[in-house]
Amino acid sequence: MSCGWAEMVRSSAGGARGGGGGMFDSPVEGKLVRLRAREPEDEPRYHRWLNDADVTEHLVMRYPVSHAFERQWLEDDGGPTYEKAGFAIETRVDGQHVGSITLRDGAPELRTAILGIFIGEKSSWGGGYGTDAMRTICRFGFEVMNLHRIELDVYAENLRAVRVYEKVGFVAEACRRQANFQFGRYHDLLTMGLLEGELR
Ligand SMILES: CC(C)(COP(=O)(O)OP(=O)(O)OC[C@H]1O[C@@H](n2cnc3c(N)ncnc32)[C@H](O)[C@@H]1OP(=O)(O)O)[C@@H](O)C(=O)NCCC(=O)NCCS
Repeated sequence: MSCGWAEMVRSSAGGARGGGGGMFDSPVEGKLVRLRAREPEDEPRYHRWLNDADVTEHLVMRYPVSHAFERQWLEDDGGPTYEKAGFAIETRVDGQHVGSITLRDGAPELRTAILGIFIGEKSSWGGGYGTDAMRTICRFGFEVMNLHRIELDVYAENLRAVRVYEKVGFVAEACRRQANFQFGRYHDLLTMGLLEGELR
């Protein structure tokens, strides 16, 4: 016996967006990217990205990560779930794995989750992938997970990220002054939020 919902989602993969003629747009495909479950084989790329100071200076990460840590992290990941809907970001044009995006700490009573993203492949920065991945996961959050609110923290000085978040509809709600210490100094953190119906 087939599960109706799963079958509908499957038949819509590559549906209206992909031209496959399914009932719905694929919940994991944007215009430029596809979100997929993370795999153990992704480990070398996560290891490279998360040891690259150009990437981690924008993340709340301090210590170098080992291959063993990354392997274990991917093993524990367990695939996307309501509590931790984590995905690899790959390009639709050639299936290149370029980054990572997660809705975590899903709270059913509040219908909220916290979003984190990075495009680890630096040559892909500025290519529109971050914006498209944000739109895709927020749509997934609202239409698949039935969230009401998505929030994130970002360094106030990370203007590229702030621009991307504002573009898709996030609003800066608070500035937590000098809330993080990294690379020898304190940084202000902006909390930004997006409500159901506000995604652009
Ligand atoms: C932030 C990040 C996710 C954005 O993804 P991306 O694919 O590089 O971004 P996009 O190409 O979709 O869009 C970038 C936008 O920022 C704008 N931008 C770039 N640098 C900018 C700057 N210094 N100031 C203001 N806007 C800037 C671009 O012009 C573009 O906006 P536009 O489409 O209106 O022209 C990605 O660069 C990244 O992961 N960086 C490293 C880690 C990180 O910062 N993660 C976020 C932590 S909160």
